[in-house]
Amino acid sequence: MNSSLWKSHILPFAFLLGLLAAVTLAGDYFLHRLDLVWVGRYLGILGTLLIICALYYSARKRKWVSKGNPRTLIRLHEFGTWLGSAMVLIHSGIHINAVLPWLATAAMSAIVVSGLVGKILLKQSQQHVKDKLGFLSNRANRKLTLSAPCIGMP
Ligand code: HEM
Repeated sequence: MNSSLWKSHILPFAFLLGLLAAVTLAGDYFLHRLDLVWVGRYLGILGTLLIICALYYSARKRKWVSKGNPRTLIRLHEFGTWLGSAMVLIHSGIHINAVLPWLATAAMSAIVVSGLVGKILLKQSQQHVKDKLGFLSNRANRKLTLSAPCIGMP
């Protein structure tokens, strides 16, 4: 397999997903260990609010609001939704006794995975545009050099 694809796409994806699983398991473990299970109930509310706030990026992208640098907002979207999802997973993931919460957890996990894939695709498309621009500007420069009159020629 192409090593740059592995390094720039697959490893970061696996790392962020693995870290989410690790943070969820560790969070649940420590809440039980420290007898703070009640905190988990509030993490659900906090995580949901964080995810809702992180959706500000979407409003900015669609120009419903004009404040905020889109580059910074996408980073905040990625971080806010990741952290918010970890909180919701700690709140819900480990001990769910009904079908509906399981479905909600599965749906949110699917959105997180799709967000991580989206992050990779976005990076790849940015790189593609950058490469194309470099190629076109090189070609334009070469054409200009070839069509420029030679010094000393009548
Ligand atoms: C509960 C979790 C999440 C929700 C509800 C969510 C929601 C959304 C929505 C609604 C959009 C569309 C924005 C638009 O076009 O208006 C979006 C785009 C995107 N999200 Fe998420 N997201 C979540 C998690 C994540 C995660 C974890 C990441 C990456 C770490 C991520 C990265 C992205 C990226 C890269 C885009 C595309 C940006 C673009 O093309 O403009 N998302 N997300």
